[in-house]
Amino acid sequence: MKRMFFTLALAVLVTGLVYGNKNEYEIPLIGAKAPSFSAKSTDGKLKFPNDFGKSWKILFSHPRDFTPVCTTELLELAYKQGEFEKLGVKLAVISTDLLSQHEMWKAHLEEINYKDRGTVEINFPLIEDNEAIYSRMYGMIHEPTSTTRDVRGVFIIDPDNIVRTINFYPMEVGRSTDEIIRLVQALQTTVKTDYFTPANWEKGNDVIVPHFPYKKHEVEADPSIKDNFYQVGNRVWFKKAETLE
Ligand code: BEZ
Repeated sequence: MKRMFFTLALAVLVTGLVYGNKNEYEIPLIGAKAPSFSAKSTDGKLKFPNDFGKSWKILFSHPRDFTPVCTTELLELAYKQGEFEKLGVKLAVISTDLLSQHEMWKAHLEEINYKDRGTVEINFPLIEDNEAIYSRMYGMIHEPTSTTRDVRGVFIIDPDNIVRTINFYPMEVGRSTDEIIRLVQALQTTVKTDYFTPANWEKGNDVIVPHFPYKKHEVEADPSIKDNFYQVGNRVWFKKAETLE
């Protein structure tokens, strides 16, 4: 009886360890609800993503305050924050540093004249995650790289708090702010029009028609339909950008 009890207890422990670990490192996938958390930030207490309401949101992780690559990333993000605002996107930056470090780093960044563009104010919150709790909820701790520091993660989250894109970059490589903006524009275009965006799409380019909405006989009866569309090969239809609303 005693033996059976210990075997059962061991099985429960092992199962708990296996599944406990699995959940700890799960990355919220595209289409999943963005995990929510409450944390301290340079803008005060923040409940993410709920406090950003019906905006698009970006959660942007980085490994460490006061480091060179992270410094350039934050300055580039701050430099483009007006563009994000125009796109209806709210930004939040997270790392496993303390709030006191975030505050010092923010003040330091705001004094830098990077690329001779003048100084910039940082109008988005830097979130404290000293225990890496929220970072783990977003799968931003990649243990082969570091057990305590975030990799460079970008989660684009839509107004309904659904994860729409996930990108991870290593510590050594700084991200392209322009690519993040392009991603937001592409996502917003697909949501607005129901069309898709082809490889290397940029704002103003033609879009892909996932299902051509006209039958062959309809096009034959009204060839002007084709003025708004064109075909590449026999499977890919494009819609001309200038005909989008
Ligand atoms: C950096 O931002 O420069 C950096 C941060 C952590 C590890 C390596 C580089």
